[in-house]
Amino acid sequence: MKNSDFRIQVKAFYAFLLVCISLLVLLSIVILLYNSNPDIFYSKKEIDTKDYIEVSKDDNYDKIENGIHIRTGFKEGEGLMETVNNCTNCHSAQLVIQNRMNKERWEETIHWMQETQNLWDLGDNEAIIINYLVTNYPPVKKGRRTILSTVEWYNLEDE
Ligand code: HEC
Repeated sequence: MKNSDFRIQVKAFYAFLLVCISLLVLLSIVILLYNSNPDIFYSKKEIDTKDYIEVSKDDNYDKIENGIHIRTGFKEGEGLMETVNNCTNCHSAQLVIQNRMNKERWEETIHWMQETQNLWDLGDNEAIIINYLVTNYPPVKKGRRTILSTVEWYNLEDE
C-alpha cells in the first residue's frame, strides 16, 4: 500500500516537473523570438505608419518655389528654417510677415512673447531669426504723404 502511494506521489511530482519545464521552454522561446524581432507581436498597422511618414518626406514638406517657402509663405533666405521652426508653432507665418520692424523692435517683440506667451529661449537662433526678418521684411517707411509734384495749379480770378 505505502509503496504504491509513494509511486503515485513520485509520478505526480514528475508530471508537475514536466509541466514546469515545458512552461519554461515555452517562455524562453517567446523571449528568444521577441529578442530577435521586437515587432513580432505587433499588428501590421503600426508598420504602415512608417510608410506614411516616408511618403510625406518624398512629397517635400519644405518645398521652395519661386523663392517662397510654400508651407509658410516665408521668403527664401539665410535663417529661413530657423524662423520656420521657431515662429510658426503658435500663430501663422502671416502674423510675422505682416509686422515689419527693425532689429530693436523685433527683439522687444520676441522678449514680450517669451515673457507673456511661453515662447522658449531661442539661444543662438535669436540673432539668426532677427537677421532673417530684418533682411527679408525690412520696415517700410510710410511717414508723411510725399509732396505733390504733378499738380497743375490754377489762379483764382477775382470777379
Ligand atoms: C509659444 C508660442 C509662440 C511662438 C513660438 C511665437 N510666438 Fe509670436 N506670438 C505668440 C502669441 C500668443 C501672440 C499674440 C497673438 C495675438 O495677439 O493674437 C504672438 C504675436 C506675435 C506677433 C504680433 C505682435 C503684435 O504686436 O501684434 C508677432 C510679430 C510675432 N508673434 C512674431 C513671432 C516671431 C518672429 C516668432 C519666432 C521667433 C514667434 N512669434 C514665435 C506666441 C508665439
